[in-house]
Amino acid sequence: MHVLVTGGAGYIGSHTVLHLLAAGHEVVVVDDFSNARPTVVSRLEELAGQAIPVHSFDVADIDKLDSLVTELAAEGRPVEAVIHFAAFKAVGESVAEPLAYYRNNLGATLAVAEVMVRHAIPHLVFSSSATVYGADAPVPMTEDLPTSATNPYGWTKVMNEQVLRDAAVAHPWLRVALLRYFNPVGAHPSGRIGEDPSEVPNNLMPYIAQVAVGRREQLSVFGDDYDTVDGTGVRDYIHVEDLAAGHLAALEWIAGHDRALSVWNLGTGRGTSVLELVAAFEAASGREIPYQIVERRPGDIASSYADPTRAQTELGWRTVRSVEDMCADTWRWQQANPEGYPA
Ligand code: WQD
Repeated sequence: MHVLVTGGAGYIGSHTVLHLLAAGHEVVVVDDFSNARPTVVSRLEELAGQAIPVHSFDVADIDKLDSLVTELAAEGRPVEAVIHFAAFKAVGESVAEPLAYYRNNLGATLAVAEVMVRHAIPHLVFSSSATVYGADAPVPMTEDLPTSATNPYGWTKVMNEQVLRDAAVAHPWLRVALLRYFNPVGAHPSGRIGEDPSEVPNNLMPYIAQVAVGRREQLSVFGDDYDTVDGTGVRDYIHVEDLAAGHLAALEWIAGHDRALSVWNLGTGRGTSVLELVAAFEAASGREIPYQIVERRPGDIASSYADPTRAQTELGWRTVRSVEDMCADTWRWQQANPEGYPA
């Protein structure tokens, strides 16, 4: 299929582009590079062994998006599916700048959905997040749990899911997949692409990797008094390669089935604590990760991990990479790119 990937130069988008190309799909990327370096594209072309068309603009600009879709159809390569990654995703930043988050994250999804309806593009895979399960969800989390949020970023995911649910009801020919990611980590085994936070990493794995490579002094562990195996936060870390494979499986499933809306958790179904991840990274890298226990981070929950049964039974998809693989692949990327992608 001809697939348009918004945010395709980003962390999860770039890894997914490789899986789409390897499966024989044709890809066009739209990215405004507000949270991605242009170098990603040349790395992707090197890994894919082919040129990848990239259009640099804000996907919320509906006129530009409509012009691109019109142009591709005129060239005889009509877009048949969209995978929509493009969004701001920093929880803390969303609390400080909620209007920018609503403008960007809702605007982008509304533009994508409106252009798809105008051009009768039937397949949409949406990048959602386990954050939509809110603060008090029981674990393991199942897709039928109610959704809510505790920060503007999370609300944009909840609201975008509602927008797409309503679009799928109004246009039954539209096939929508909402993919709820747990905690994406890791990197392509080549070490040529990976996670490259533009500022101080908010997330645990990139922070650990930057300590290991010497860019950060020590890790602050946000609390060790949670009701968990060792008191530190437990999360369902999923390798970005498994996550990318999940997108391909979801896209191909909705293209072959008559269901307007599908919701799938993409997680391993297993939880790992902060200190367990630190130990695994030390084993994978051979580097010590100094840390200090500090106070809890506001808004954090004790445990979050998926019940991935529905994706396994419906998509025939399951994660195959271990926490050790996640650490080894992250380390290979970080060692080869201590400062991330070159400017
Ligand atoms: C993991 C654990 C922290 C950093 C967030 C977003 C979520 C999704 C994934 C976008 C927690 C602890 C972390 C540090 C620490 N993003 N930690 N020291 O919070 O589960 O999820 O990223 O979709 O929406 O909420 O991930 O990696 O920030 O934290 O101790 O320097 O590591 O307390 O227990 P989180 P995280």
